[in-house]
Amino acid sequence: MAAEVPSWWQTAVVYQVYIRSFADGNGDGIGDIAGMRDRLPYLAGLGIDAIWINPWYPSPMADAGYDVADYRDIEPAYGTLDEAQALVAEAHAAGIRVLLDIVPNHTSDQHAWFRAALAGEPGARQRYHFRPGRGEDGVQPPNNWQSVFGGPAWTRVADGSWYLHLFAPGQPDLNWDNGEVRAEFEDILAFWFDRGVDGFRIDVAHGMVKEPGLPDTRDAAEAVQSLVQSRAGHPAWDQDGVHEIYRGWRSVANRYRPERIFIAEAWVSSNERLARYLRPDELHTAFQFDFLRAPWRAQVLRAVVDDAIAAAATVGAPPTWVLSNHDVTRTVTRFARSQPEHLIETDWERGRWAGEDPDHVLGRRRARAAALVQLALPGTAYVYQGEELALEEIEDLPDAARQDPTWAQSGFTDVGRDGCRIPLPWNETEPSYGFATESGAATWLPQPAHWAQHSVQAQDRDPDSTLNLYRAALRLRRSLWRDAGDVKWLAVGADVAAFERGGSQCWVNTGDSDVPLPEVMSIALASAPGVRGVLPPDTAVWLRADEAPSM
Ligand code: BGC
Repeated sequence: MAAEVPSWWQTAVVYQVYIRSFADGNGDGIGDIAGMRDRLPYLAGLGIDAIWINPWYPSPMADAGYDVADYRDIEPAYGTLDEAQALVAEAHAAGIRVLLDIVPNHTSDQHAWFRAALAGEPGARQRYHFRPGRGEDGVQPPNNWQSVFGGPAWTRVADGSWYLHLFAPGQPDLNWDNGEVRAEFEDILAFWFDRGVDGFRIDVAHGMVKEPGLPDTRDAAEAVQSLVQSRAGHPAWDQDGVHEIYRGWRSVANRYRPERIFIAEAWVSSNERLARYLRPDELHTAFQFDFLRAPWRAQVLRAVVDDAIAAAATVGAPPTWVLSNHDVTRTVTRFARSQPEHLIETDWERGRWAGEDPDHVLGRRRARAAALVQLALPGTAYVYQGEELALEEIEDLPDAARQDPTWAQSGFTDVGRDGCRIPLPWNETEPSYGFATESGAATWLPQPAHWAQHSVQAQDRDPDSTLNLYRAALRLRRSLWRDAGDVKWLAVGADVAAFERGGSQCWVNTGDSDVPLPEVMSIALASAPGVRGVLPPDTAVWLRADEAPSM
């Protein structure tokens, strides 16, 4: 029997397009669909298989588009539905599949449903979680849950009742016990599948279903939520009831050919819990966030990779590797400071790191090496825009420029996620480094003064640039790794993670001394220039067996 050929999504490299900051086609300082269409040749040249586009629906932007006012249309600042369809067609013609972002845990407070709820339309409040308050005159919120962005997860409305929002007040949580909510989202999926979209990233896929009765958390510390540190047992997250929703979604996807797929953003407490989302009648893939949280330590990397692969294998799903995204500190900066022994927590990064200056040269070196590890592993990989340029987190934005709701909701103590969302530098020309075409309009978040050197244009002509490293890696991945089989670890020292797959090897050195490389292999790709014979610190290589000498 012929071996089964994997589907594209089981080995794909997906590029995350943060639309607001990718490319601005109309010169207003905000990225848009026109800009994306202009840059499709760049994406095709990079060698990715698919794009995931962050929410592009009409939105008041209380949370950068994760507050959706209408799931079947396009935000006017980004373009029109016709342009969206043209983009999908053009991407397909360039061999790139298109994944959208669906936001089912909450709507915008400007969504017609929430407006109807506030207007007191019969039945409308049952689509959300409205409750009376506690205490005298109901002045206390209905339970002790805190918003992920800071402050109580409840807001009081004019008639004195409260509504639940796990995120910003402009993002009321939907009530998924309500049949109308379930039917509506299956219909939204079909709306986009009918327009040729290949799948969805599911926002907060571990949310939606809450413990019945919305009870207080057992202790007050648990009430404070963070996306990244999901705790087992919180009544708002990872409830067993959520899986029934995904069985319904999978049957919608299964009606379509070619295949339509889902990728879950689920911050859960273990890989066993994550695997439950990937059972054969549920979702196809889920981000492996332990990889994104791994410090620069070979032994942690090995453990994270093993655990992720083992858990995914129990349900026959491909592991899905991700180094960063629009919610966390950029990889370069994460690796630019001292590294803990354990998985990194985002709050730890932003807060406790504040006093330590980042060494971006070191961070870049490690980020390049990490990319080679990521792209050599089995399964799928996600690349967040700007990773291929080794952009760093911009940590010194002026306070007045900050847009992330985390900043205000945390009482101006957590600077939030704007620093990883800065508009991309395309060329060396200010203003905007080619982000906004032919315009002097200010970009929606200011770009740093030194980004000309990191622009696509500058990196294009440098054979050793990170951009050219990604291009080479994505090209080689197809022959060396894509169909190469299981990971076999090689025992070469505590500070080295080295594995073999299908006769090729990937080595990464997280220690501080050189490590000899095997003489019988040749270097197919190295994360730093000039690697020969030994693997220097903070470097990775891909090795392939030398051709046998011809007789
Ligand atoms: C998205 C965030 C967003 C949140 C609420 C997520 O996990 O990735 O950017 O703020 O969901 O929708």
